[in-house]
Amino acid sequence: MKALILAGGRGTRLRPITHTSAKQLVPVANKPILFFAIEAIRDAGIEDIGIIVGDTAAEIRDAVGDGSDFGVKTTYIQQDDPLGLAHAVKIAQDFLRDDRFVMYLGDNFIKDGIKELVDEFEADSANSQILLARVPNPENFGVAEITGGRVVGLEEKPKQPKSDYALVGVYMFDATIFEAVNAIRPSARGELEITDAIQHLIETGRDVRSHIIKGWWKDTGKLEDMLEANRVALSAVERDIRGKVDGQSRVIGEVVLEEGAIVENSELRGPLIIGAGTVVQNAYIGPFTAVSTGCRIVGAEIEFSIILEDCRIESLPRRIERSLVGKNVRISQAPTKPRAFRFMVGDNSEIQVPE
Ligand code: G1P
Repeated sequence: MKALILAGGRGTRLRPITHTSAKQLVPVANKPILFFAIEAIRDAGIEDIGIIVGDTAAEIRDAVGDGSDFGVKTTYIQQDDPLGLAHAVKIAQDFLRDDRFVMYLGDNFIKDGIKELVDEFEADSANSQILLARVPNPENFGVAEITGGRVVGLEEKPKQPKSDYALVGVYMFDATIFEAVNAIRPSARGELEITDAIQHLIETGRDVRSHIIKGWWKDTGKLEDMLEANRVALSAVERDIRGKVDGQSRVIGEVVLEEGAIVENSELRGPLIIGAGTVVQNAYIGPFTAVSTGCRIVGAEIEFSIILEDCRIESLPRRIERSLVGKNVRISQAPTKPRAFRFMVGDNSEIQVPE
């Protein structure tokens, strides 16, 4: 089997972070979300991976390379315009040929991996296998209509969903999908929808199986979902202290402190991860926080947050929580009067201050 990872999306719902960085490279537990997808595919025994890239192609190639760091072989396929998931399948036909394949959306996070699902599809004669998960907001996803345990119809982001079963962004196909992606027309949002292509498979009598996943899954398009994925990924980490902690500090629970990180006169309450070379002084870092490399956290408190590389967070009178802070950001107390908020923030940023 082969795999096709879609890493071309623009990530508009994660701006401003995605003004300068691909959404698939935003880290959870200090690892780009895309790496979890590559590892899940590799762990399912698939080595030949096509990656669809768009505007952020250079950055994705830089991060993933030829795949040898992961034990896989990557082939990059350029999608010049975001014309939809089914369009991505179309342009990958030369790479996929007649092989059965798994298509994995690069911003999806499935905690338990996909090995069993891939094994099941590989051993089977079905034309397609889709994964479904119950969600509270089906109108934001592709939605399946199920009758007598079978999927009888699929709709992309319906205003009136016929069920609360969302299509998870991991799909399995055989070569019959190419007929389907060539037969459908663009949706109202101007994209060739994979949901419509699967609906076409159903209508033309192809064998489309569905599998309801019980484990944890997230489409990490938005801030809250990133923080949730970070929480779930951190829940699996084990204590590993490679950096330096002084005698005035307390390190409680599952804490990962990478090489060259320094903790002084601070309290760390896991699960959390602190990247290489980050300095934490007179600070508190609480559960479900991932601080990347090269940061300085001094005289501040942070909990349930993701802090990217090279940030300086200093002398804050209140705790930071539920936050995603981009690379090289400075947050500090204003040194002079008046006591006011002073910002230099990028487009599409979001700031909330307490009363
Ligand atoms: C895409 C699919 C949708 C699916 C979702 C899962 O939506 O079109 O059917 O439920 O991924 O992540 P998008 O994230 O492109 O809006």
